[in-house]
Amino acid sequence: MWTSVKRTLQRARRQMKFDIVTIFPSMIQAGLAEGVVSRGVERGLLNIAVHDLRRWTTDRHRTVDDVPYGGGPGMVMKAEPLVRAVEDVRAARGAPDSVVLLSPQGRTFTQAEAGRLAGVGHVVLLCGRYEGMDERVREMVATEEISIGDYVLSGGELAALVIVDAVSRLVPGVVGDEQSVAQDSFARGLLDYPHYTRPAEIAGYRVPDVLLSGHHADVRRWRRKAALVRTLDRRPDLIATAALDDEERALLDEIRRERSRS
Ligand code: ADE
Repeated sequence: MWTSVKRTLQRARRQMKFDIVTIFPSMIQAGLAEGVVSRGVERGLLNIAVHDLRRWTTDRHRTVDDVPYGGGPGMVMKAEPLVRAVEDVRAARGAPDSVVLLSPQGRTFTQAEAGRLAGVGHVVLLCGRYEGMDERVREMVATEEISIGDYVLSGGELAALVIVDAVSRLVPGVVGDEQSVAQDSFARGLLDYPHYTRPAEIAGYRVPDVLLSGHHADVRRWRRKAALVRTLDRRPDLIATAALDDEERALLDEIRRERSRS
């Protein structure tokens, strides 16, 4: 009875749709086969379709690239197969809210961007390969361009997997424990505090006493302070934009006072 009620509730929840266009569909399938995303698919919260770009080629060799106009090294992905792919996805799966071109030239993907995409219903991800894509893909079908960081991958496939993972975690119900998602450090713009599990000591390396104390308020305060210490040490740039509450601002002052003394 309870399971069927739960299933009905899950079905009533909004489903997020992804369409991924790639010349390496098996690479994407492998990346989606396990973990949180695959469970989200099983529960009907995520609907992910992977499309082989070669399906939209028209020549005998199923060509997806060609030499660049103007000369130079490398190959360029042809525009027509990608444009046709987006048109067919639109016809078969409905009009997407966003058509994302993955490339190092895009806006940098962040937790805030993941949150924005989790708020829309249907995202198409176009994976580039070779030296780049014919610029007309951007002009004709892409609505945005995203990079997952300032480095060059051999293609957009890993970037697409990163985006699907980070966005899916934010779709209600995909991660079982909603609280853990809300408390994710980056959700609040800070790094995470250190975690420990049993045993309490390994070769002299001890778990901090406060975590064994059973004092919930002390544990909470220790964790909040530890997250701030880490962020201050490793990513001071994040402190300026983090959404700190009064307690965290007070803890930050405390850390700074302690440091100026030593
Ligand atoms: N394709 C190649 N490099 C990339 C990057 N950094 N982000 C997204 N797509 C890419």
